[in-house]
Amino acid sequence: MDWKAFIDEQIDSIRQAVGDGLAINALSGGVDSSVVTVLGHRALGDRLKTVFIDNALMREGEPEFVVQTFAEMGIPVQRVNARQEFLGALAGLTDPEEKRNAITATFYRQVFGRLVRETGAKFLLHGTILTDIEETVAGIKRQHNILAQIGIDPEQVYGYQVLEPLQTLRKDGVRQVAQFVGLPPSITQRIPFPGPALAARIVGEVTPERLATVRAATAVVEQELADTNAFQYMAVLLQDKATGIRDGRREFGDIIVVRCIDSVDAREATVVELPWPKLHRICQRVTSLPGVNRCLYDLTPKPPATVEYV
Ligand code: XMP
Repeated sequence: MDWKAFIDEQIDSIRQAVGDGLAINALSGGVDSSVVTVLGHRALGDRLKTVFIDNALMREGEPEFVVQTFAEMGIPVQRVNARQEFLGALAGLTDPEEKRNAITATFYRQVFGRLVRETGAKFLLHGTILTDIEETVAGIKRQHNILAQIGIDPEQVYGYQVLEPLQTLRKDGVRQVAQFVGLPPSITQRIPFPGPALAARIVGEVTPERLATVRAATAVVEQELADTNAFQYMAVLLQDKATGIRDGRREFGDIIVVRCIDSVDAREATVVELPWPKLHRICQRVTSLPGVNRCLYDLTPKPPATVEYV
């Protein structure tokens, strides 16, 4: 693939589509939205407004890391506080697709609807990749960012057009483009993280307390597995509870699942054979978190499992 030609072509078509108007994009800090941010800024300069939506579902330290990384590249990112909107929309929901739909509706209709009205932007630049489209169309999962492909006309429904410069690429291709446009290794080599964020890793209701538990477990797993070079690794909070012992007393506590997979593009995945001492250490650290008394390792490849739990 001639990446330079691909990049020039995408920059050109963003310019043509937006004309002398304004565009907006949401940067999550993942490699997909990071590449779109750089392409968009090259195409439009300060006619692209980039926002980081703080949806309360992010990993520890994420908003600060993202804003700082792009500031160092000369790209200003505005942090938008939408925590209460997302938590409110998720309250009481336990069904995985209902949770995904609530996140989609809050993101596109509520938060972006408002931002688009406030800024006058008519275009939303989006980091949708080919795998997102294929899996949604195949009915495997409702990826949060798929609209037109399932018959939603964003212009009619939300009042803006969506541009998707990466929709012909898979994850490995996006990483190549990321390197080519000069994104730092802290972004290009990041493991994938889903749009619905930690909500994709909480089975059952998403509450501030349950988010705090999975966020703390995620930090442990990411620290411990950073040196594995695995494609993706994560912590998941189950809905079930289990009996355990803490400080000599019986405790009916939370169960955290650790998942670590290898994959090329997330369409299929195999489980990484982690060394026992590593698993043991993760288990010790995870079960030291408040209220967590079991830690399991997931041995299931994709298929039959998906990577995320929701
Ligand atoms: P699944 O769980 O479908 O995940 O096997 C495949 C890959 O996609 C990521 N993923 C998402 N990414 N929005 C995203 O941007 C989503 O809604 C979403 N769901 C899953 C997942 O982390 C894995 O890398």
